[in-house]
Amino acid sequence: MDFSIKSLDTKTPISNIKTACMVVGVFDNKKLSPEAAELNIKGVIDAAIKSGDITGKVGSSLLLRKIDGVAAERVLLLGLGDNPEKVSEKAYTSATQVAARQLHALGASEVCIALPTADGRDFTWSIRQNVVAFNEAIFRSDAYKSKKDTIPANVKKVAIAVAAKNASAAKIALAQSIALVNGLELAKELGNMPANFCTPTHLANTAKKIATEFKMGVEILERKQLQALKMNSFLSVSAGTVEPPKFIVLKHMGGKAKDAPVVLVGKGITFDSGGISLKPGVGMDEMKYDMGGAGSVLGTMRAIGEMKLKLNVIAVIPTCENMPSGTATRPGDIVTSMSGQTIEILNTDAEGRLILCDALTYVERFKPAAVIDIATLTGAIITCLGHHNAGLFTRHDETHDKLAEEILAAGKQANDTAWRMPISELYNEQLKSNFADIANIGGPPAGSITAACFLERFTKKYTWAHLDIAGVSWKSGAAKGSTGRPVSLLTTFLMNRAG
Ligand code: BES
Ligand code: MN
Ligand code: ZN
Repeated sequence: MDFSIKSLDTKTPISNIKTACMVVGVFDNKKLSPEAAELNIKGVIDAAIKSGDITGKVGSSLLLRKIDGVAAERVLLLGLGDNPEKVSEKAYTSATQVAARQLHALGASEVCIALPTADGRDFTWSIRQNVVAFNEAIFRSDAYKSKKDTIPANVKKVAIAVAAKNASAAKIALAQSIALVNGLELAKELGNMPANFCTPTHLANTAKKIATEFKMGVEILERKQLQALKMNSFLSVSAGTVEPPKFIVLKHMGGKAKDAPVVLVGKGITFDSGGISLKPGVGMDEMKYDMGGAGSVLGTMRAIGEMKLKLNVIAVIPTCENMPSGTATRPGDIVTSMSGQTIEILNTDAEGRLILCDALTYVERFKPAAVIDIATLTGAIITCLGHHNAGLFTRHDETHDKLAEEILAAGKQANDTAWRMPISELYNEQLKSNFADIANIGGPPAGSITAACFLERFTKKYTWAHLDIAGVSWKSGAAKGSTGRPVSLLTTFLMNRAG
């Protein structure tokens, strides 16, 4: 699909724009959006509303054809709620989803969107919503089906109308939205890909492809190098599988050479069977998405690469499978992590923290401005926050409060929200081990918090935040599949940092 910005000025009224379909908004109480008002030649739209053919209800729509005096071949009316002064974000988003689905099913290959933006949001936001909606409407997960899904995808060109004074800023916003959507799609594709295709090697190859396409530095560390680095905690998770582990380092150095980088660390378990502490069978297929952290980090790198973001960002991804076998790590085994801290592995299903802790030690060498790890770390975070918010954990001091605010704000801005959780010494005590420096589980209470406390011990040398995305990166049920979250949050965070 090809997106463009249509600049509106007084010389080209909306009624003169030639397009196969013009999309405008209407409201309950028979009110028209300013754009619809411009098109209401001979009262055609008024008449449609009066007859009850369209209400302003969100989700309602009506297609009109060949209106006298209107250059567009068709006009699609979209309900935007009851208040022309205050279109809610939700109303705008649902309306664009309805429009995208309907338009893809029409014979119009080229359309123009002329909608008022949501209350409190500027054109940058509404452009992004449209790009996301039109792409989502045609997103398929039929890569492995011999008979492909037949979802209509007829729209080839989408023009988004904005006021002339905003046109040049809108063009930049559009390019950024397209880059973001490409990153989101990569993350979704990786999350949905089965573990026999989405192996650690596949993730490494994906990183190499991003590096070539967007001129980034890339390094893939193999088992031998990981042994030399003494990443015994990471390697212990990989002990039960023949699939080789990989450690991915992908560098986007868009900022000044001397500027400290932001480091993103993504959990890349390509399949989490639980290992010897085997998970129950029901729903275990979904553990192919246990690389959701890695997928969202790669998606974010793709997005900022396409944007040519002026910021130094380094992605670090430890990736392997967690499988049971005769060579697998046993409950009770003790390993020495790269940091030197010894870990008693009481449960081999608490493997995310075991691969992340060595990655968190490795990244010290970059003297980072901040480190954010992103991980489908605990089922408990779903109990806490459901599927709406990612869990955000940091230390509780001034520097970290500031980082937390920055991340939470980026989440709100991007409709990809997180919620802050506590960590403290009291929870940390649950990780005591009789035989090693630390145990890898803290018992049933507050499982997400003790997991974060475990990671925290490996992050003392820099400013750090942890996002537990087990609830947000995947949808179960009928619409089963990857959401691509939190690519939008991370990309927005980095864009804000780049200024
Ligand atoms: N990958 C899982 C967490 C998870 C669970 C993600 C459900 C998405 C949906 C993680 O490795 C895990 O197994 N965590 C355990 C920790 C426990 C053994 C302390 C869990 O959450 O049960
Ligand atoms: Mn696990
Ligand atoms: Zn896991």
